[in-house]
Amino acid sequence: MAREISTVGVVGLGTMGAGIAEVLARTGITVIAVEADAAGVGRGRAHIEHSTGRAVAKDKLDAGARADLLARISYTTALSGLADADLVVEAIPESLDLKARVFAELDRIVRPEVILASNTSSLSITRISVHTGRPGKVVGLHFFNPAPVLRLTEVVRTVVTEPDVVADVVEFTRRLGKEPVVIGDRAGFIANALLFGYLNHAVSMYESRYATREDLDAAMRFGCGYPMGPLALLDLIGLDTAYEILETMYAQSRNRLHAPTPVLKQMITAGLLGRKSGRGFYTYD
Ligand code: CAA
Repeated sequence: MAREISTVGVVGLGTMGAGIAEVLARTGITVIAVEADAAGVGRGRAHIEHSTGRAVAKDKLDAGARADLLARISYTTALSGLADADLVVEAIPESLDLKARVFAELDRIVRPEVILASNTSSLSITRISVHTGRPGKVVGLHFFNPAPVLRLTEVVRTVVTEPDVVADVVEFTRRLGKEPVVIGDRAGFIANALLFGYLNHAVSMYESRYATREDLDAAMRFGCGYPMGPLALLDLIGLDTAYEILETMYAQSRNRLHAPTPVLKQMITAGLLGRKSGRGFYTYD
């Protein structure tokens, strides 16, 4: 029988964690959101309030439903607050050490049958799972940015993930209105493995001054119907995140498509991280 999932813990309230918490609460799920400190909680809460405020302004949500959504999310700075969670989704920064510590602690806190999921886009789920006493109940659950809008979820199974765990997570994300796909534990999973070669190529065309950033982006928007051009999308993803994903994929595949274009590293070193730092390929208010 499928697991009953009505309370979900979300660990980490950056762009992805906040978006995931919003999606869950919108579906009527009780969310316990965890951040490292009060400032992180404040940022996460503000992100969710802003995003749901926009949804109301755009007629995607009514004001009453927004109030109910916000009331379903409680915030804490202690992982021990997740003792009653039926599922935990981790969305902290992409550091294996950090994730290993969080998963080991979660393993001690939540009930033994509870599934632990990671939203990582670049780290190995297998390597995360071995830091718990329940590797068969660890999966990847990868959302796309912006999570409240984009419908894909990638459910990542390792060689030891139990089949009922995959089935329950697939079913659960359908409940959230998402379109789940299932994939093995390979860097980039499906979407990023296909997307990042293209994004990296666009950066290399930009670096060689082949065309302006505006024209590179316009070509893909107006010629191919993409909602955003590649450089604007990199600004949305975050150049640092994009670099980590490329590096991980390159280390695994040695496919030169994924060898990060040098200017990407230079921009990161100079603090140009994209939207989140106010400047990347473009400048933001
Ligand atoms: N809840 C519900 N609906 C919402 C919402 C919310 N919180 N916020 C926005 N929406 C709705 C809007 O009402 C709008 O709906 P309509 O199209 O029906 O009007 C729609 O979502 C788009 O919203 P926006 O107004 O914010 O803006 P936009 O039209 O300029 O689109 C975009 C912005 C959604 C980002 C779009 O440009 C897009 O899809 N870009 C591509 C993004 C992409 O490729 N992301 C994947 C990145 S890779 C990744 O994430 C994986 C990784 O590991 C790094």
